[in-house]
Amino acid sequence: MAMDVKAAAARLEAAGERIIHMEVGEPAASAPKSVLAAATEAISRGKIQYTTALGIPSLRQRIAKHYLDLHGQFIDPDRIVITTGSSGAFLLAFLTLFEPGDRVAVANPGYPPYRHILKTVGCAPVLIETTPDTRYAITPDTLLAEHRKSPLQGLLIASPANPTGTMMTPEALKELIETAEAAGIRVISDEIYHGLDYTIDASTAASTSERTVIVNSFSKYFCMTGWRIGWMVVPEALVRTIERLQQSLSISVSTVSQIAAEAAFDGIEEMEAVKRGYQINRQILIEGLPKIGFTKFQPADGAFYLYADVSAFTDDSLDFTSAMLTKAKVAATPGLDFDPLFGRTSVRFSYAGSAAEMHEAVENLANWLR
Ligand SMILES: Cc1ncc(COP(=O)(O)O)c(C=O)c1O
Repeated sequence: MAMDVKAAAARLEAAGERIIHMEVGEPAASAPKSVLAAATEAISRGKIQYTTALGIPSLRQRIAKHYLDLHGQFIDPDRIVITTGSSGAFLLAFLTLFEPGDRVAVANPGYPPYRHILKTVGCAPVLIETTPDTRYAITPDTLLAEHRKSPLQGLLIASPANPTGTMMTPEALKELIETAEAAGIRVISDEIYHGLDYTIDASTAASTSERTVIVNSFSKYFCMTGWRIGWMVVPEALVRTIERLQQSLSISVSTVSQIAAEAAFDGIEEMEAVKRGYQINRQILIEGLPKIGFTKFQPADGAFYLYADVSAFTDDSLDFTSAMLTKAKVAATPGLDFDPLFGRTSVRFSYAGSAAEMHEAVENLANWLR
């Protein structure tokens, strides 16, 4: 649905309208200069060949160092697998961990491809309803209640989460992982929005368990969506299976992107400046939206999303975002995309653009709703 809104916005733009894009979860900034330079240099050398299925060893080592620098956590580079974004990592993880028919818990609301990819590999996504009281996170109680109904084989968690931008405290994350694994439920932790945390420090599941499969990506913090590159941290016992799967499914990940990604870690200063921009945007929305009637939303702890309850205006978020686009010239995503059960009364705003656009969006929305 986010992509449908984007397409509708593009049609209006082609007709000469100016649209503020808050629909797709994509950084407006470019990848760090170090990335562009490394890619240019690699291309100018000319010979771009396959890499090993698990990825270029120096990149895997560099990612391991990142965990040491950021979390003080040693991770054996042999447990790191380079993937085609976190999207590619989900496929490898689901195929490796689960059998057709397995039940895998995901938070509702949540990122739609979790359910779509699970269904594609024959698994049953089990939506666990979450509420603002738990910052939209699954808790040990809600997990075990579902497990008692019929055993779960998997649990997929994300902190910061999409679409809510909410986070789990390090204690809540640890407790949930330990509860799940003690019950024999395999955990996958989607850490794609790590680095973009504003109120709570994002802690990695790698600090709690070596059994958890961690999925991460260069797409968000490093602004590298189109480079299609991410990584996994996997239990040692699964490395060989994942290597064989990746070899068969795609041989290896884009070599230019792997070379470029290694240089991303030299661009942290630049990316921290981008992050400061998101923080300003977040503040503009947190202060501006309530003044125009969007009074109910979660603290937006991380990522670049704000998930607003729009029940005061509508019970059809699809219609509401469509009218918002044509009348207020603001593109946002209907909650229905993330929550098939209750998303009719929610809208997700992505604030990965500029501060000027955020001010303009609030003003346009105010004029529309007045
Ligand atoms: C929560 C979450 N996980 C994974 C992805 C996939 O990202 P990529 O495949 O670019 O790494 C996204 C993209 O928006 C996301 O929001």
